[in-house]
Amino acid sequence: MANGKFSVSQILRNMVTRKNPDDALAGAAKGGLEKTLGVWDLIILGVGAIIGSGIFAIVGIAAAGSADGTSPGAGPALAISMVIAAIACVFSALCYSEFATMIPVAGGAYTYTFATLGEFAAWIVGWILMLEYAIGFIAVSCAWTNHFMQFIKGFSNILPAWIYNPPVWLINDYRSAVNYCNLHGLDSHAVIPSIAGIPISLNLPAIVMIIITTAILVKGTKDSAKMAGIMVAVKLGVIALFVLTGIFYIKPENWTPFAPNGFEGVFMGAFIIFFAYIGFDALATAAEECKNPQKDLPIGILGSLIVTTVVYVLVALVLTGMQPTSGVAIPEGLFKAPMAFAMTAVRQNWIAGLISIGSLAGLTSVLLVMHMAATRVLFAMSRDNFLPGVFQKIHPKFNTPHILTITVGIVGILGTLILDLNVAASLCNFGTFTSFIIVCVAILILRKIDPDRERPFKVPFCPWFPLMGIVCCGGLMIFSMVVAKGQTAALSTALFIVWIVMGILIYTSYGYKKNRLAEATVGETIAEKEIAEKDEFKAGIK
Ligand code: ALA
Repeated sequence: MANGKFSVSQILRNMVTRKNPDDALAGAAKGGLEKTLGVWDLIILGVGAIIGSGIFAIVGIAAAGSADGTSPGAGPALAISMVIAAIACVFSALCYSEFATMIPVAGGAYTYTFATLGEFAAWIVGWILMLEYAIGFIAVSCAWTNHFMQFIKGFSNILPAWIYNPPVWLINDYRSAVNYCNLHGLDSHAVIPSIAGIPISLNLPAIVMIIITTAILVKGTKDSAKMAGIMVAVKLGVIALFVLTGIFYIKPENWTPFAPNGFEGVFMGAFIIFFAYIGFDALATAAEECKNPQKDLPIGILGSLIVTTVVYVLVALVLTGMQPTSGVAIPEGLFKAPMAFAMTAVRQNWIAGLISIGSLAGLTSVLLVMHMAATRVLFAMSRDNFLPGVFQKIHPKFNTPHILTITVGIVGILGTLILDLNVAASLCNFGTFTSFIIVCVAILILRKIDPDRERPFKVPFCPWFPLMGIVCCGGLMIFSMVVAKGQTAALSTALFIVWIVMGILIYTSYGYKKNRLAEATVGETIAEKEIAEKDEFKAGIK
């Protein structure tokens, strides 16, 4: 063991110690997850992860701007915003594909960072990925409640009132319930019950949904892929129905002015609608469960991105052709459930109803994949001593990391009690942009430090494509911070910074020490092991 173990230079050396990708592969081979996923499972999981609340709900804000006027809308130029957001994703998707085929183990961006930027950066990326998957998961479960209530209201003539119009404290977190009361001139103390002085307000549909997805994921990944397949078919079916019906109700005059808020609206639209593309990267976290990751993963990642881009551009053109998105008072329905609203506006009520069902299917499959991705990243982090070893346990019958899956479910339920949907979605965007940027940086670094490693898939035009990924993602993120005003933007930026600081504190007080403890039991530091390996390599022993 190094004499200067407690010296600053030793601490810094430990923090930038990289994990040899071969160790990650060996670890996965030892205690790995079952390999059940083929290329179609991957494309289905990818589309299942991507198409969700972004296209079924957030698209309205991206087109018309936020209801309080704090963020400008793209108008009919939404189709351009969609393409810009897709371009920002493609560069990162190519980088993800290179990594996922080179190091096909659980953990995605987290694992890649460990191999390139070292222990500390890996922890921070894992922590940021929780922002993307676990906080995104909370956001989508809240959106699920909104769509579910919208759907149930369609049956108001046959259902009892307490079902289609439940108490506000049964379908909202406390803050949203209070906001609702304030907005409708109600006394929140009278409306929200309390036990021993503690107000009780919970998002019951979201909680039930989280319990269901947890049970499905504990039972097995293959079943989850099958389930996601059914839901993907349903949501693509209703989107096709929307496009094919809506095309007959397009009024070309709605397409002018094409970009009512100019570049600002188009780029802000791209930032907001970026949420609709989040999810393809989740496929990389399931690399360890692929039958043939080298070939199937790039096809799965790029294929699902191409399918969704085509679908999104069509929806954008039809939606903005059917509904005015500027120059008039924008109805509330366009913000909550835009596609269903547009169909109701042209009296196609039964199609609107089918679209509501499709939205629920879409959101459910996104929930499944986000939950799965969060557990797979945590699984990899636990294997690297950042989390207690108990999280590495695999269910003897189902072969899934059941303890982690249930833990993420519990965290999700707690999150629905305190987090607001819009803030959670913005935080998720920030987390995703950051992890995409880091993956692009990591590709550049690994090409330099490990040029001879076998790369079954290579990002073309390197270093330009990874650099373009960094510029596109960083540019959109900074642009949104500058342009978006209002409480949600300020709060999500502040929470993002708080999240990073929390991550640093947890690493220094727990992760760093636990790793050193693990090294002590092995008898050498990872850094020492790496040096020894390099020396052996130089001496030609290897
Ligand atoms: N892309 C996912 C959605 O739109 C996060 O719900």
